[in-house]
Amino acid sequence: MWDKLQTHHKAVADRRIEPMLDAARAADFVAQTGDMRLDYAKTNIDAEGRALLIDLLDAAGVAEKRDAMFAGAPINETEGRAVLHTALRNLDGGPVMVDGQDVMPGVLDTLARMESFAHDVRSGTFAGQGGKITDVINIGIGGSDLGPAMAAQALAPYHDGPRCHFVSNVDPADIAGVLRGCDPATTLVIVASKTFTTIETMTNARTAQAWMGQSVTDTGAQFAALSTAADKTAAFGIDPSRVFGFEDWVGGRYSMWGPIGLSLMIAIGPDAFRAFLRGAQAMDRHFQAAPWQDNLPAMLALVGIWHNQICGHATRAVLPYDNLLARLPAYLQQLEMESNGKGVSMDGADLTINSGPVVWGEPGTNGQHAFYQLIHQGTRVIPCEFLVAARGHEDDLHHQHQLLVANCLAQSEALMRGRTLDEARSKVADKFEGAELERQARHRVFKGNRPSVTLAYPQLTPEVLGQIVALYEHRVFVEGVVLGINSYDQWGVELGKELATALQPVVEGKESAQGKDGSTAALVDFLQKHGVS
Ligand code: F6P
Repeated sequence: MWDKLQTHHKAVADRRIEPMLDAARAADFVAQTGDMRLDYAKTNIDAEGRALLIDLLDAAGVAEKRDAMFAGAPINETEGRAVLHTALRNLDGGPVMVDGQDVMPGVLDTLARMESFAHDVRSGTFAGQGGKITDVINIGIGGSDLGPAMAAQALAPYHDGPRCHFVSNVDPADIAGVLRGCDPATTLVIVASKTFTTIETMTNARTAQAWMGQSVTDTGAQFAALSTAADKTAAFGIDPSRVFGFEDWVGGRYSMWGPIGLSLMIAIGPDAFRAFLRGAQAMDRHFQAAPWQDNLPAMLALVGIWHNQICGHATRAVLPYDNLLARLPAYLQQLEMESNGKGVSMDGADLTINSGPVVWGEPGTNGQHAFYQLIHQGTRVIPCEFLVAARGHEDDLHHQHQLLVANCLAQSEALMRGRTLDEARSKVADKFEGAELERQARHRVFKGNRPSVTLAYPQLTPEVLGQIVALYEHRVFVEGVVLGINSYDQWGVELGKELATALQPVVEGKESAQGKDGSTAALVDFLQKHGVS
């Protein structure tokens, strides 16, 4: 299968995309569900390539594995766990069985408890020592931060609750900056940690506790916890009535649909949060039912595989022309790179193809004035993923939104068309002549033929955001199955954590750096001379 794709790629690699792009291709190389449209016509994938890519799905058993995931089978094989974030948004679905037990009553019960607490915080029924809660601080990192932080920013137009802050980094600058702007007497601190052991989170939680303790008598009363570890939240002093638990079948980077989304729910309200879940559930159903060619997650995954594993483009730029999605690239970095950045396949053998790509990006149009130069004229091809809404939320400034959309469409067109030497010459023919004209013209050539996809939607509502995030989650799943890896563990983060724990006493000057490599020892020495210990 891979061989056939490689052979096909060799045959078509130099072909131009633009001449292929007639109305028939524009209508055919799209996948749509409801009002969401994925256009991949501006890639070099043709009907034969697409058929070969779809063969990969069948060969890898994606449909069977997808059904196994939704059914609660332990598809996270290295950790022996089910993968059931989809159950958290299975609002009106049937039972979901894990080890012979329906998990839905527990899921719906926790959702109802979150809603009741969110309602109380928003209405003032739950108050701080100084009165109604004005600020909520979510302390968490990785999956316990990136999802809710990204979504809270994305849904800012829907905020009607207390202000919401996110602290993740152990760098004291992070928490100090947030605490400076909050009143401890009217602040709710939410400690979000699946394990409740993550050093950054627990360190920040203790800092917040000490900060609050300076003016609030019962600090525990203004703390809530989101975790699978009820014993540890109790040991921290958080009353079980404000602990929202979830099971180990919810992976950290897939967890914002449940308790980890509490800060978002408090900010936008339980109804809007349900709309967010409904959007994700709609994408789940689409993923489960749509034929591959019409299936957004499947096609997005296959386009990614074409560009990364077949064409060899190592990175992918995610470029939201939607400022509200400013944190989407960072969120996707964890979702995609922690999930599919693996070097061995499920059975432990070395991967014989590349793992998932480096994902990066910034909102347009800012990126245009920063790194697009390299995307257009650099020597490496960077497949781009554009996201764009038909409407923003600022009706009185719609003319600016129109300009934003024009920029988005112009970029994908420019990447594909490029500018020939002749066209470049005619641009500067009135200014230069002879050899100088040639030299100047060459600087203005764009090779073009650079691939991109565009995800278009009406407006970034809670429902649409739910659809987008679920789309990316399932894309990661499909890619992982095709590559034969486990997308649901993250052993690659362990070594650094272990070494950091061992280095802490060295940095503090309590232990010697002897036994460390020369570079590390010299850096410790330099930093100690400049005040670290
Ligand atoms: O460092 C990786 C990781 O385990 C992520 O997978 C996870 O989202 C993050 O740390 C935070 O973990 P926790 O929610 O247990 O604090």
